Amino acid sequence: MRISLKAALILIVGLVFSFCQINHAGRQTVDLSLGWKFTTGDNLAYADPEFDDANWHAIRVDQTWNKQGWKKYEGFAWYRKKVIIPSALKKNPYPNDSLVFYLGKIDDFDQVFLNGALIGENLKNMPRGAKPGNEFKELTYSYWNVQRRYTLPVNDPRINWDGENVLAVRVFDWGVAGGIFGGKMSLTTPDFNDYIEVDYAPGEFSDHQGQLGKSLTIKNTASGYRLEGSLVVRVKNNLDQSTVFIQSYPLHLEGHEELAVTFRFPKPLESTSILYSVKLDKSRKPLRWQEGVPYILTPPPKETPQINGALIYGQRPGKPFLYRIAATGKRPIRFTATGLPAGLSLDETTGIISGRVDRPGSYSVRITATNDLGKDQKTLRIEIGERIALTPPMGWNSWNVWGLSVTQERIYAAAKAFVARGLADHGWTYINIDDGWEIPGASKEAKRTPNGEIRTNRKFPDMKELGQKIHALGLKFGIYSSPGALTCGKFTGSYKHEQQDARTFAKWGIDYLKYDLCGYRKLMKDVNDPVELMPPYELMHRALQKVDRDIVYSICEYGNGKVWEWGAKVGGNLWRTTGDIWDDWDRMASIGFNQQQAAPYAGPGHWNDPDMLVIGWVGWGEHLHRTRLTPDEQYTHVSLWALLSAPLLLGCDLKRLDDFTLNLITNDEVIAVDQDPSGQQAVPVIADKTIQVYRKKLSDGSLAVGIFNIGKQTRKYSLPLEKLGLDGAATVRDLWRQKDLGIFKKAFHAVVPPHGVVLIKVAKK
Ligand code: GAL
Repeated sequence: MRISLKAALILIVGLVFSFCQINHAGRQTVDLSLGWKFTTGDNLAYADPEFDDANWHAIRVDQTWNKQGWKKYEGFAWYRKKVIIPSALKKNPYPNDSLVFYLGKIDDFDQVFLNGALIGENLKNMPRGAKPGNEFKELTYSYWNVQRRYTLPVNDPRINWDGENVLAVRVFDWGVAGGIFGGKMSLTTPDFNDYIEVDYAPGEFSDHQGQLGKSLTIKNTASGYRLEGSLVVRVKNNLDQSTVFIQSYPLHLEGHEELAVTFRFPKPLESTSILYSVKLDKSRKPLRWQEGVPYILTPPPKETPQINGALIYGQRPGKPFLYRIAATGKRPIRFTATGLPAGLSLDETTGIISGRVDRPGSYSVRITATNDLGKDQKTLRIEIGERIALTPPMGWNSWNVWGLSVTQERIYAAAKAFVARGLADHGWTYINIDDGWEIPGASKEAKRTPNGEIRTNRKFPDMKELGQKIHALGLKFGIYSSPGALTCGKFTGSYKHEQQDARTFAKWGIDYLKYDLCGYRKLMKDVNDPVELMPPYELMHRALQKVDRDIVYSICEYGNGKVWEWGAKVGGNLWRTTGDIWDDWDRMASIGFNQQQAAPYAGPGHWNDPDMLVIGWVGWGEHLHRTRLTPDEQYTHVSLWALLSAPLLLGCDLKRLDDFTLNLITNDEVIAVDQDPSGQQAVPVIADKTIQVYRKKLSDGSLAVGIFNIGKQTRKYSLPLEKLGLDGAATVRDLWRQKDLGIFKKAFHAVVPPHGVVLIKVAKK
């Protein structure tokens, strides 16, 4: 085959550039995204540069191994790649004292070796001579979604300049999905910007009556360089783009020196962001980041009584009944209820209705709440029949906050906070323990008593007592298990003990079970086949039906095999439609805005579950952080979940609820959209590149409408009312502000901030 000179030149240039590129800032980088080899299993010899990996498989590092042929594999696996490290990197017009390895996101844990030596582990650079251990197997927190970045001094003798180097990554996966799966994969030297460390506690502000204060520090982490430049801070109103505050701070930072900056600006009443920009004299690229500022739209609850929450409640005949009337207003409040079916009684001071009703039927109960300042009354419909969970469950679950470090105390603290912070007065009811209450599968301790009853681990000394205490508050108690022998966290599951576990749960006073496929996948040939998925769920359903309690049944199998099509058939009251959520915009939005397929299957008693809310302080373990969703993104999250008739399960530390988060979860008009008795799930009626309009039909004939801006720029948007199915004029109410906006004839005009929402109720005039 003949190759023309031109083609040969293109080929050579292409080859050179694929291994050493000049990026737009003039910095040279080596691409590490291709050419990896892979094996499952574990052997430290794989780190040895001499090891022959010829039989290993080629693998991509932009997606998990589960998507590349190792569908169910979990545990150890290794990645290897040969790479030339060109000394040209040291000639970057930048500091060239160290090499930076970007190694993508790794699910769950990693150890990185260069030419046989351990250089990094779970986000930490490792000192020379460090030996790889296995301690990370004990960690209760996964680093699965965090970009790995390791550095080595350029004079480190382990680097083979201009020669072949072997990078080996030992990965340990806990379960669900594993491996290197995207993010930045490259090798480079730092920019001056990389030495700037900013500590700005995202989302954290001090409150000074009418003003918000923000503090941050900017540090030069390099010892050998003095950094000169400036920091510019601009606070911007996202709706009209006006500048609320602007200030420039000169930077003269010696090595390891830092500058503390504090500024104040008027407390915003609408979407606002702070734009930061650091420009260093020696760096071509400014360092820019931004942060959203919390703003509260909802007026505080009134002092006069107001009855809130779902006004329809279902229970099976003869089962223990527990319903706490949710009401806001100055305490004390006295409650009355007329028309209660036989078998029920009301505690007039707490508003807790309890007992058992034997006779099936639909009962209309007039309830009142009265205090010094006034009275409210509403009709509660009690449906005694075969259906429960007539509106989407609302509560709290331990997973997104505590992960496997959940304890009995933390569960009870959440229950107490539900009452103390007033959440129960807005209809929040379930307090659910997720994984981590059982004995670990690998423990030497007995997992069950001699008669087979499942045991709790030491963090849960008394489940029954915990249940009683939660019920005494008028709240409900949830638990977690798996149809497999092991749960996702490798704790004991219900496999082959389904009947007995259902009975034990009932004995503990459980009202809600989340049943997570996880360990059961090992027993399946095809994890997406409903024929294989249905029996284990059906089995537990039948066991739950036999006990003397109503237990809301939450199916968790990540949407496999289109669970929405068959979840109700196996007794599910709700079913997860997706994999796990986490607190970033892409994840939340990709879940929330992709629920259409399942929409027709939602309704009273059986709900699509797009996973829990990621607002407030979350962390999946001991180390909590404030959600990384901006305030606008959080408004979107809650509005969308309400429109989708999604179960609303908080997963945050309730001890650290700030005013903003509290406002997000206590707006009764927004909650009413979620809890509407018709139970219809919103669907998009408009989806352009950046605007998505969701419409939900409410039981009073009106519509709840969310105008979402999924783009990065503020959008002025005119929503033609005919797109909502309305032909004449309509009244519009802003649900977050709880304010009537007037009558609109043909179109409704909204200004929607980036990643934000305008949530309205529209009624035909
Ligand atoms: C996952 C599940 C999470 C959480 C976790 C516990 O499979 O999706 O919501 O329950 O297991 O290990």
